[in-house]
Amino acid sequence: MVGPPGSGKSMLAQRLPSILPPLAPKELLEVSMIASVAGELGEGKLTDRRPFRAPHHSASMAAMVGGGLRVRPGEVSLAHHGVLFLDELPEFTPQTLDALRQPLETGDCAIARANHRVTYPARIQLVAAMNPCRCGMSGEPGYRCLRGERCRTDYQARISGPLLDRIDFRIEVPAVSASDLIRPDKAETSASVALRVACARTIQRERLERLGASATTNAHCPPSVVEEIARPDAAGLALLKDASEKLAFSARAYHRVLKVARTLADLYASETVGRIHLAEAISYRMSAERMAQAA
Ligand SMILES: Nc1ncnc2c1ncn2[C@@H]1O[C@H](COP(=O)(O)OP(=O)(O)OP(=O)(O)O)[C@@H](O)[C@H]1O
Ligand SMILES: [Mg+2]
Ligand SMILES: [Zn+2]
Repeated sequence: MVGPPGSGKSMLAQRLPSILPPLAPKELLEVSMIASVAGELGEGKLTDRRPFRAPHHSASMAAMVGGGLRVRPGEVSLAHHGVLFLDELPEFTPQTLDALRQPLETGDCAIARANHRVTYPARIQLVAAMNPCRCGMSGEPGYRCLRGERCRTDYQARISGPLLDRIDFRIEVPAVSASDLIRPDKAETSASVALRVACARTIQRERLERLGASATTNAHCPPSVVEEIARPDAAGLALLKDASEKLAFSARAYHRVLKVARTLADLYASETVGRIHLAEAISYRMSAERMAQAA
């Protein structure tokens, strides 16, 4: 999420667990085991709410991915089956962000020691927030950064390409004015969004069961299964080809767009992946910068 200060990025991220389905018993066991190993199972209370971890950007590498004198799981494992929220993303050290790439790819986190290796599970949903530039206000109507264009380009360049490639939804969060809050807009409740998420997940689980796949969600499907379940119709395929060339998608980006499009189609209860689902998926992948250019 990219947006100016006070636009509600941190607030939105904190609400994410409330629209996710509760932990299944097996997941709950894994989450509890990690918390227990980390010495964080306060009073032995178990809850089926998904973890939400928000380490500060000053967190050490060991705190993030695990390690230390006595090896213990890091934030990325404590967020297993839940959300890892990195607020002020460009403020994290490049080394810490790099260390997240492997867990994001494999769903576990390996800690190498002098004479052994420990692996903790780390299947997470990564959510990150940042201001568009160092001063925070680039792009706001009537505002000019003291350092000009470079305020934004330098700040955004702190996020490496390989990490960005693993982020499927890049959204601009516009500033909220007090008058926006005074107008009593009817908003959908978290509970009703959670219901839509649960429906989409049921569709996915049943489809993957029929195929005999081991994954239960689109997100966890290997590329071969993604190609099988997210085959777009002719118009969708044409759009995807075009966008892949224009936006120079990597192979990873290509499969990730297909996954997102499949999930959008599931949310709209559509059997086939159409042009409209791909267009939406592709739009989430375009950087804020490209969005600005396209506008
Ligand atoms: N859409 C909204 N509806 C209701 N309240 C909002 C909304 N957006 C922001 N707020 C209010 O503004 C406060 C600040 O939002 P939040 O801390 O999430 O902003 P932020 O985008 O994380 O800012 P920063 O970049 O400074 O971290 C919230 O605690 C909330 O009270
Ligand atoms: Mg914030
Ligand atoms: Zn600026």
